[in-house]
Amino acid sequence: MNIILLGPPGAGKGTQAQRLVENHGMKQLSTGDMLRAAVKNETPTGLKVKAIMEAGELVSDEIVSALISDELAAMGDDVGAIFDGYPRTEAQAHSLDAILKQHGRSLDKVIELEVNEEALVDRITGRFTCARCGAGYHDRHKLPEKEGVCDVCGSTEFKRRPDDTEETVRTRMQEYRGKTAPILPIYEARGLVERVDGMASMDEVTASIEALLS
Ligand code: AP5
Repeated sequence: MNIILLGPPGAGKGTQAQRLVENHGMKQLSTGDMLRAAVKNETPTGLKVKAIMEAGELVSDEIVSALISDELAAMGDDVGAIFDGYPRTEAQAHSLDAILKQHGRSLDKVIELEVNEEALVDRITGRFTCARCGAGYHDRHKLPEKEGVCDVCGSTEFKRRPDDTEETVRTRMQEYRGKTAPILPIYEARGLVERVDGMASMDEVTASIEALLS
């Protein structure tokens, strides 16, 4: 299966993609994660995109489509792909069609996580992760059991994404409304879109997605 998880920043795409990886052995293709790795490693791509990401704007279509194409080329044919945060523009949607065709794959579903944007600002501005193992926490909803110590690995180092400020989140939402939401009709015309209530609990969202895939 090859599926797209679509939704605004903080809708839960990454959270649900990781659960699909655990439950089905699929591969998560997150352009956000790929770009953050490039920034961290100071690659030529990373140096080019750092300021754009920190401003909450979209990186060029060419850069992200090349990343996706490379990742798919390196994957086994029998492993399903979860596109997380890609495509985000009409041009990227067309590139994905071409890339999938090139690899003999086709799209099975586009799952839209429907959410309330104001609640997402709270979700995003409060989140932080363990710098060592990546476990996720939240200032208001999920603090570590022992203050300042990761529940999973015991590390005392935590980090926040530089684009998780309220101002940047609002820019990211605007980018979503203006450039990403308009690609839904492309997939609706092909009968691929399924909608899930992204405001439900994480487990309920997972159950709804599982029901769509069975
Ligand atoms: P990217 O990394 O893709 O960020 P995003 O789309 O803004 O999404 P997030 O990772 O913030 O949210 P998510 O939906 O994955 O939610 P999550 O599961 O983390 O992109 C970052 C930047 O990279 C972009 O701004 C752009 O510059 C660039 N970029 C990336 N792809 C690009 C592309 N294709 N084209 C151009 N530029 C691109 O959950 C959020 C929080 O909510 C977490 O704390 C989580 O624990 C919590 N949570 C999740 N689900 C629930 C729930 N059901 N109930 C309560 N809390 C929940």
